[in-house]
Amino acid sequence: MRTQVVIVGGGPSGMLLGQLLHLNGIDTIVLERRTKAHVLSRIRAGILEQGMVELMHKAGVGARLERESFHHEGTQIAHNDRMFGINFKQLIGESVILYGQTEVTRDLYEAREKVGAQTIFDVADAAIHDADTDAPYVTFHKDGREQRIDCDFIAGCDGFHGVSRRTIPASVRTEYEKVYPFGWLGILSETPPVNEELIYANSEDGFALCSMRNANLSRYYVQCSLGDDVGDWTDTRFWDTLRRRLPAEVAEALVTGPSIEKSIAPLRSFVSEPMRWGRLFLCGDAAHIVPPTGAKGLNTAASDVHYLYTGLLRFYQDKDSAELDRYSEKALARVWKAERFSWWMTSLLHRFPDQSPFDVKMQAAELAFLRDNEDAQRVLATNYVGLPY
Ligand code: FAD
Ligand code: DHB
Repeated sequence: MRTQVVIVGGGPSGMLLGQLLHLNGIDTIVLERRTKAHVLSRIRAGILEQGMVELMHKAGVGARLERESFHHEGTQIAHNDRMFGINFKQLIGESVILYGQTEVTRDLYEAREKVGAQTIFDVADAAIHDADTDAPYVTFHKDGREQRIDCDFIAGCDGFHGVSRRTIPASVRTEYEKVYPFGWLGILSETPPVNEELIYANSEDGFALCSMRNANLSRYYVQCSLGDDVGDWTDTRFWDTLRRRLPAEVAEALVTGPSIEKSIAPLRSFVSEPMRWGRLFLCGDAAHIVPPTGAKGLNTAASDVHYLYTGLLRFYQDKDSAELDRYSEKALARVWKAERFSWWMTSLLHRFPDQSPFDVKMQAAELAFLRDNEDAQRVLATNYVGLPY
C-alpha cells in the first residue's frame, strides 16, 4: 500500500489531523490499535478551547458541536467553605466550550467514514521504519498478516504509550517529567450537575472537581491515592468524599445517583523534545502529557494538529517545507506554556503528602490573592480559555 501521510493512532489528534488533510486533498491512512467501539467508550476531557472548536469547524465536524455544546463564561474556585468565580467573559471577553472528548471522537469517526477515508482498526505491532530517510514506511499486523504502507510522512498520534515517540533514538531525544504523588478518580452519573459552572475545589481533605456533560449527566473527580484501585471506591465512598471537599452549601445541593463509569488516572507532566525526527512528527499525548487540572490535554493535542496540518499543507500545496521545519519549535513553545499552567493549577489545588504547614499557608495566600485580584484572575482566564496558536 502507499499513501501520503500515515497516521499512527486514531484518538482525537489522529482523527482531527486526518480529516483536515483529507479535506485538502492529502491522502492518509489511520492505523488504530483498538476497535472503534473501544475508542468511543473512553471518557476523558470535557472542556474545549475556542481554537479547538475552530479546528473542528475547519474539519467539517462543527454542526453537532454547535447544537449540543455549552458555553461556559467562567468557572468557580472553592477553598474549604468559600467559593469565588472567575468570569472569563468579563475579564477577557472569551469563554470555553463544554463538549466531551467522546463526542469529538465520535463526530470525527463519522466524518471520516462518510468521506471514505481509510482507517484500519485492530492493528498490532505497528512499527515505523526509515523515518530519517526520504522513503519511510510503516509495517503492522492485521488479522495475523504483515502489511506495509509506504508514505511521505508519518504522524505519530498514538498517545503516551504508543510506538512513535520510542522510534526516535534516545540519543536525539530529551524527556522532562514530573510525576505527582496522587491520582484522580472520576465518575459519570446520570444526575443534574450541582452547579452551572465547573467548580475546582481545594479542601483540607484534597482536591475535587465538579463538571458535567449535559443537564442530566454529571462528571465529578476527586484526588485519590496513587495505590488506590477503582474497586476500593464504592459509590457511597465517592459521594461522601466529594461532599466533604465542597463548600457546605454546594454539598447540600449535590444530587447523587449510581455511577455509570468510574476510572482512576495518574497525574503526570511530561514533554519529549524534539517533536520531529526526519519524516516522523509527534502530535498530542505521544509527545507530552499534562495533569488534567487545567483542562489542557486535548486542547494542546489540537494545537499540535494545527501546526502540523498547516506545515503539511504548505509542503503539498506550495512545495515549501519551511513550516514543517519549524513544527517542533512552534508546537513546543505553546506546549510548555500549557505545561506551566497545568502544573500551577495542580500545585494550587491539591493536597500533597509532603506538604508542610507553611506550604498549606502559601496555597491559602495564593488563593486569597486570586480571589481579590483581578490581574491574577485575568492571568488564569487567559491561560484557561487557551493561548493563541
Ligand atoms: P490518545 O487519546 O491517547 O489517542 C491515541 C490513540 O492511539 C489511541 O486510540 C490508542 O489506542 C492508539 N494507539 C496507541 N498505541 C498505538 C499503536 N502502537 N498503534 C496504533 N495505535 C495506537 N485531558 C483533559 O483535558 N481532561 C481530562 O479530564 C482528561 N482525562 C484523561 C483521562 C485519561 C485516563 C487519559 C489517558 C487522558 C485524559 N486526558 C484528559 C487527556 C486527554 O484525553 C488527552 O490529552 C487526549 O486524549 C490526547 O489525544 P491523542 O489523540 O493525542 O492521544
Ligand atoms: C473535565 C476534566 C478536566 O480535567 C477539567 O479540568 C475540566 C473538566 C471534564 O471531564 O469535564
